[in-house]
Amino acid sequence: MNYDVHDLSLAEHGKLRIEWAEQDMPVLRSIRKRFAKQKPLKGIRLSCCLHVTTETANLLLTLKAGGADVAICASNPLSTQDDVAAALVKIFNIPTFAIKGEDEDTYYDHIKSAIAHKPNITMDDGADLVSTLLFMAMKRFKNIHPVVKKWYDSISQKERDAIINGVIGGTEETTTGVIRLRAMEKEGVLKIPVIAVNDADTKHLFDNRYGTGQSTIDGIQRATNRLIAGSTVVVAGYGWCGRGTAMRANGLGANVIVTEVNPLRALEATMDGYRVMPMSEAAPIGDIFVTLTGDINVLRKEHFIKMKDGAIICNSGHFNVEIDIPTLEKIAVKKRQIRPFVAEYTLKGGKKINLLGEGRLINLAAAEGHPACVMDMSFADQALCAEFMAKNARKLEKKVYIVPTEIDVEVSQLKLASLGIKIDTLTAEQKKYLASWEMGT
Ligand code: NAI
Repeated sequence: MNYDVHDLSLAEHGKLRIEWAEQDMPVLRSIRKRFAKQKPLKGIRLSCCLHVTTETANLLLTLKAGGADVAICASNPLSTQDDVAAALVKIFNIPTFAIKGEDEDTYYDHIKSAIAHKPNITMDDGADLVSTLLFMAMKRFKNIHPVVKKWYDSISQKERDAIINGVIGGTEETTTGVIRLRAMEKEGVLKIPVIAVNDADTKHLFDNRYGTGQSTIDGIQRATNRLIAGSTVVVAGYGWCGRGTAMRANGLGANVIVTEVNPLRALEATMDGYRVMPMSEAAPIGDIFVTLTGDINVLRKEHFIKMKDGAIICNSGHFNVEIDIPTLEKIAVKKRQIRPFVAEYTLKGGKKINLLGEGRLINLAAAEGHPACVMDMSFADQALCAEFMAKNARKLEKKVYIVPTEIDVEVSQLKLASLGIKIDTLTAEQKKYLASWEMGT
């Protein structure tokens, strides 16, 4: 079995942590039980490009129980939990290509390995795997990383065709990946149907809001050990992730400022009780800045030069592009790693700016990502969407699909049941009333 992980001796430790997460993933457990009986993924080769965490391990075990031949590579160079990667290889026999802190060449070498697994279904978090495959299919070599291109050149045309034509569909976990896929669809270059798992209500309402909210604050605290109470926390972007982060920072006693480009969301943030202003005005007053926009260069030179001495900046949104780090590197006269996950940049004149986690997702770099309880729903969606894709891919168009409503309903019902919560059902009279336009009074 092929694999590339940091240290196989960490496997036992990883296994214990995978079991700990499993305890808080009852929905996925029940799906795993059904999958083990019905084998809906039998004969399907599945390549995942996901954060390699304890929760993901539980998803992979569910897909494997369903009969899939699964391989995984990291979707982010910093988010891999090395003990989990070791356990996946040594204990669960899943080809795993992920090392925490891997450089860019290794990152793409790992993506190449997931492609070489010859997937029928891809499962992405950020669309790196599926876009590399599409660039291969389109022969858009300028977009293919040199490491992948070298491998592509080394295999036969027959093998390339087999890989490209073998993919029948995919799923996508996060907002940014969905944005990229919709752009591909618009350009007419999307070659397979893909389900936007991110857009399921049982995903973004919980995972992006409560999961990112809690774990982003957790990442900032673990990296800095700063008191949040009384600090001014600037949250850039008031989407699902921004709402969650602002809510949790507020709960810890921060003065929260929100920056936005969307007037509706800016209005919502205002009515939720936060101050809203442009980043140029927030820059001189913020103590801690978090970007959660999916956009590039949200924090840039004009902001760095206005920030307070000691300002803390981090990103929990998209890859490492939301903060203009190359410019920060350029304008700094000194840089040192003052604590793990904290790079202190000194600007001309002596002012210091602290960048957390190299500008990559702070909740995954310095903390452990989303708690298992919310990933239970997101990954239940993933498992059920993989099942749906295995059954229906050949009937679907080459488009981005929303998650079928039945899946959202099933996951929310299973989650409520696991929490021991019962809800009301409509009476026959209520059903009739709600379906009728004549019974207005
Ligand atoms: P969303 O689309 O709901 O919200 C993004 C918000 O940012 C929008 O309201 C948009 O108007 C705003 N925005 C865009 N450019 C801006 C700018 N220059 N300044 C201020 N605001 C700006 O997206 P969602 O679901 O909140 O996700 C945000 C990002 O977080 C995405 O990149 C997503 O992939 C990522 N994400 C990260 C997770 C993590 O574990 N850290 C988990 C889930 C998503």
